[in-house]
Amino acid sequence: MPMITFSNPQYKDKTVYAVAGSHTETLLKLAKVNSIPIAFDCQDGECGTCLVKVTSLSKKERMSGPPTEKERNLLKQLGKLTDDEIKQILVDDFPPPWRLACQMIVRDEDLLVEY
Ligand code: FES
Repeated sequence: MPMITFSNPQYKDKTVYAVAGSHTETLLKLAKVNSIPIAFDCQDGECGTCLVKVTSLSKKERMSGPPTEKERNLLKQLGKLTDDEIKQILVDDFPPPWRLACQMIVRDEDLLVEY
């Protein structure tokens, strides 16, 4: 079961278990269930309020589900993803560090999420 550590300088780090095998559990959903105060607004990949920095703590190569086109476009608008990185995502499954918590699906890997 993946362990997700949420970290923010204003709060104590909190590590929670994610449901293994769930393909619907977003980072934001997990944070809300565990009373982790990640800022959010639209919950639909439109506003960028839920921007987080994600680092894989697993020894595996890939980091969670790749961002959808919608998420990639907003991350680009926010200056958190370059065209080159988008190409890399499409070709190599490059795991970008910046993600939208409301869009990122948690997979079977341990993560550090800075919010
Ligand atoms: S809450 Fe708006 S993009 Fe995630």
